[in-house]
Amino acid sequence: MDNLPWGTDSELTNNQFYNRKEDLESIKSLLNTTSMGSPPTIIMPGIRGVGKTVLLKKIKKELESDYMVSYVDLTQSYSYQSGKLTEIGIMHQFYKSWMKSAKEKGFNTLINSIKKKFSTKKYKISQIIDIGGYPIPITESEEDYEKLLNFVLDFPQKIYNEYSNEIKGVIIIIDEFQAIKDLDKDLDGFLWFFRSIIQNQKNVAYVFSGSLNSKDIVFEKIASQMGAFGGRMLTIEINPFSKKTVYNYLNEKLPSLKLKKDGFERFYNCTNGIPHYVNTFANLLPKNKVLNNQDVKNEFKKIIPILADHLKYQWATLNLTEQKIIVSLVNKPLKRKEISESINIPSSSLSKSLNKLQNISVIKNDKGIYSISEPILKAWLKEEYGNRGTYPYRII
Ligand SMILES: Nc1ncnc2c1ncn2[C@@H]1O[C@H](COP(=O)(O)OP(=O)(O)O)[C@@H](O)[C@H]1O
Ligand SMILES: [Mg+2]
Repeated sequence: MDNLPWGTDSELTNNQFYNRKEDLESIKSLLNTTSMGSPPTIIMPGIRGVGKTVLLKKIKKELESDYMVSYVDLTQSYSYQSGKLTEIGIMHQFYKSWMKSAKEKGFNTLINSIKKKFSTKKYKISQIIDIGGYPIPITESEEDYEKLLNFVLDFPQKIYNEYSNEIKGVIIIIDEFQAIKDLDKDLDGFLWFFRSIIQNQKNVAYVFSGSLNSKDIVFEKIASQMGAFGGRMLTIEINPFSKKTVYNYLNEKLPSLKLKKDGFERFYNCTNGIPHYVNTFANLLPKNKVLNNQDVKNEFKKIIPILADHLKYQWATLNLTEQKIIVSLVNKPLKRKEISESINIPSSSLSKSLNKLQNISVIKNDKGIYSISEPILKAWLKEEYGNRGTYPYRII
């Protein structure tokens, strides 16, 4: 029986991993310049489910023998999980990840010296906490805080300096970078500080990835803040699979799925070529039975609630204004003024909600025209409306 990976798998086997040859090669060759002392900074945006995380994990696996590679998911940070990402939360998450990779590399001398450093009284900070099994000082004053930032952000270069005969450099992958927006008004300051430290690192490369559309205001801000790297800063956007790619993919990896020409067209329209949905939908479709347009359409109707599972949680966390904005866009893209008219809320009061919805990749703004960037959310809302005659607004 043939089967594709599920949309929730974050690590694929070489056999499961499809396509992306060019992206993979170009990212790897950019990262390999780290070994010559000119590390790149890469920004890798792409919508949710497009395959950023699996690509990053593959890159990690392939470069791990030559480099120390750290993978950090900002949404795994304790502070994010408990409501809001903070700078200290980011530092702790970074630290945990550096230590984990150092351990994987067998850099025990370094790890032991860190443990020792914080257990002696030499370090003038009163308390030490445990982060993922490693000690780190608690920060109470501004001064402590800056020390912590410096210590954590400088650490990758220090690791290289100590182990330059064993590794060609350090590669830091920061996934779900859009979460950094939680810092609100502190964002600019944080990015500035981050940049000022990492731009002096000669052997550490950074890859920032996240569910952002490259046209989003948020993305531009991050890119322009980090843009001071000049020529070393590169953007590689990860796109959904093209129609041709999906066609070849299904033929090669899931031959038991028999789609007629119009059935395939429908399949592509339903999934928009987003691998997460391609895989999940294809796995759930009946096999060894020829499916036409109408069959695929019917199956899709049945499957929407499953495909939309993760989106329902997100929908429930939105406030009424945010939900209304999305609903106003279900049938067609609108300008800000049109959204305002359609939901009867002054245009000037929409900024916060519009920003939030873009940050979580639910809507996108393309030259002033807003649209839903999450095809399954749109399909689910339509379906709910069709079934109940009303949209599933949250009861407040
Ligand atoms: N190159 C690929 N080949 C096959 N399936 C893929 C590929 N990239 C992504 N997928 C599928 O899409 C799902 C979502 O990928 P993921 O990397 O988590 O997306 P993102 O991080 O962009 O939100 C994966 O679990 C997998 O099922
Ligand atoms: Mg991801």
